[in-house]
Amino acid sequence: MSVFRYVVPALAIAGRAAAQCSASATQTIQNAGDATALAGCQTFTGSIALATGTAGVIALNGIQEITGDLVADNVTAVTQLSGDSLTTLGGDFILNGMTVLTTLSFPRLATTKNINWVALPQLQGLSFTTGLQQTQSLLIENTQLGSLSGINLQTAASVMISNNPYLQEVNMQLGNISDALAIEANGRNIAVTFPNLEWAFNITLRNVSSISMPSLAAVNGSLGFYSNFFESVNAPNLTTVGQSLSFVSNEKLNNASFPQLTSVGGGLQVANNTDIEKIDGFPKLQTVGGALDFYGNFSDVALPSLMDVRGAFNLQSSEDLTDTCNHFQPLSGQNNVIKGTYSCSGGESTPGGSGTLPSGTNSGSGTSGSTTSSSASTAVTITGATGLLGVVAAIFGML
Ligand SMILES: *[C@@H]1O[C@H](CO)[C@@H](O)[C@H](O)[C@H]1NC(C)=O
Ligand SMILES: *[C@@H]1O[C@H](CO)[C@@H](O)[C@H](O)[C@H]1NC(C)=O
Ligand SMILES: *[C@@H]1O[C@H](CO)[C@@H](O)[C@H](O)[C@H]1NC(C)=O
Ligand SMILES: *[C@@H]1O[C@H](CO)[C@@H](O)[C@H](O)[C@H]1NC(C)=O
Ligand SMILES: *[C@@H]1O[C@H](CO)[C@@H](O)[C@H](O)[C@H]1NC(C)=O
Ligand SMILES: *[C@@H]1O[C@H](CO)[C@@H](O)[C@H](O)[C@H]1NC(C)=O
Ligand SMILES: *[C@@H]1O[C@H](CO)[C@@H](O)[C@H](O)[C@H]1NC(C)=O
Ligand SMILES: *[C@@H]1O[C@H](CO)[C@@H](O)[C@H](O)[C@H]1NC(C)=O
Ligand SMILES: *[C@@H]1O[C@H](CO)[C@@H](O)[C@H](O)[C@H]1NC(C)=O
Repeated sequence: MSVFRYVVPALAIAGRAAAQCSASATQTIQNAGDATALAGCQTFTGSIALATGTAGVIALNGIQEITGDLVADNVTAVTQLSGDSLTTLGGDFILNGMTVLTTLSFPRLATTKNINWVALPQLQGLSFTTGLQQTQSLLIENTQLGSLSGINLQTAASVMISNNPYLQEVNMQLGNISDALAIEANGRNIAVTFPNLEWAFNITLRNVSSISMPSLAAVNGSLGFYSNFFESVNAPNLTTVGQSLSFVSNEKLNNASFPQLTSVGGGLQVANNTDIEKIDGFPKLQTVGGALDFYGNFSDVALPSLMDVRGAFNLQSSEDLTDTCNHFQPLSGQNNVIKGTYSCSGGESTPGGSGTLPSGTNSGSGTSGSTTSSSASTAVTITGATGLLGVVAAIFGML
């Protein structure tokens, strides 16, 4: 078999040196000719790297499998990179700092170990016709890609997609993500859809304009929504979050609906979501292992199934919370539902996080003006001393 491999290129490109189809160290390509010379290698055993000074169009045609990595790091003059027959890359596909790369064409590529594409500021499209189905991790950062069509992963350990300002859509068939999913700072109108995702270790979404995860049933670690543009977010099948669940600075959010969620292992935070008026999307929530920390401009909080909050409990709003606070206060106390430090206060001019009010606070509207303002000044003192650590500890469930 291996003899055959060496013979074919010698015949196919007579007059040229026979292709070397393996490299004990990495095979370095300096120019288009070096790439063409590998055309007879069905399988290249080892890794291939483009030298920093390589320029123009590099076509790794003919090669069906590379057992090692394919790397182009700081190759600032290559405009096109392709491989017309490559189906399998046994190692990593690393492209970094290719400032003029416009075309990336691997029509048959289906499998790689890891993808790491960073700083490809001219890359606008992918030609991956077969579609990439398998990679342990996918990292795509700082490109001009407008779509990820051609990448349709069935399984992955981690998916990180950030700073791609033209990216308008992420839609993947993944059933689970065993490590982390993070999508942030992409196109302003980016729609994120994971129709089949049943569980992921961690999920972080920032600056997203819509999100759909209809099958999500469990998040083992943390789930966080930060600075998103959507008005509503729902996870109709989500029952448990192992660590923290956060909704922070989602300025238009007015409906968070998690109808099956029963348990949050760490902290539950709903903060600085300017438009949210009612927090009533957690009808089955029973357990919060860390702190429950809600602050903003809401007038109503309903948690009808709450049975156990192990950390601090903090509700603060600029609106009147009399009814809400009157409901929760009887639930606080050592052997009661709310075991950590309790505070609940409406009419606050600057609603803040756990630890910014004296413990035991239970005020409703701001009408009892003197009480509220003295609470607020005490709050500043507490924050300055031990409050901040308290907040951090509380959020991560250490109290
Ligand atoms: C990139 O390559 C250029 C020229 O070869 C070199 O001067 C520069 O230090 C390299 N940059 C990095 C980040 O490796
Ligand atoms: C993860 O998802 C893949 C694709 O949907 C599925 O084949 C596999 O069984 C899942 N694994 C676990 C542990 O859920
Ligand atoms: C999950 O997120 C938490 C909190 O952001 C972090 O501490 C942890 O390292 C993450 N775990 C993984 C597997 O990404
Ligand atoms: C994106 O999210 C980050 C972090 O949450 C935030 O600082 C930034 O302002 C957001 N960007 C936009 C355009 O909303
Ligand atoms: C939601 O969960 C139920 C029960 O586990 C399951 O039958 C259903 O298919 C799930 N829905 C989606 C959209 O995955
Ligand atoms: C995450 O949770 C799901 C559902 O409970 C479970 O099947 C999976 O094994 C867990 N994954 C990890 C990495 O703990
Ligand atoms: C909030 O969203 C859920 C799920 O999408 C929907 O069923 C519900 O009607 C919405 N509530 C309001 C007040 O819009
Ligand atoms: C909420 O906004 C306030 C004021 O801008 C800021 O100090 C605080 O850190 C924000 N909270 C979070 C969790 O980002
Ligand atoms: C309350 O609403 C005001 C006015 O829209 C906004 O400036 C402020 O940031 C909001 N506060 C919180 C904590 O969301």
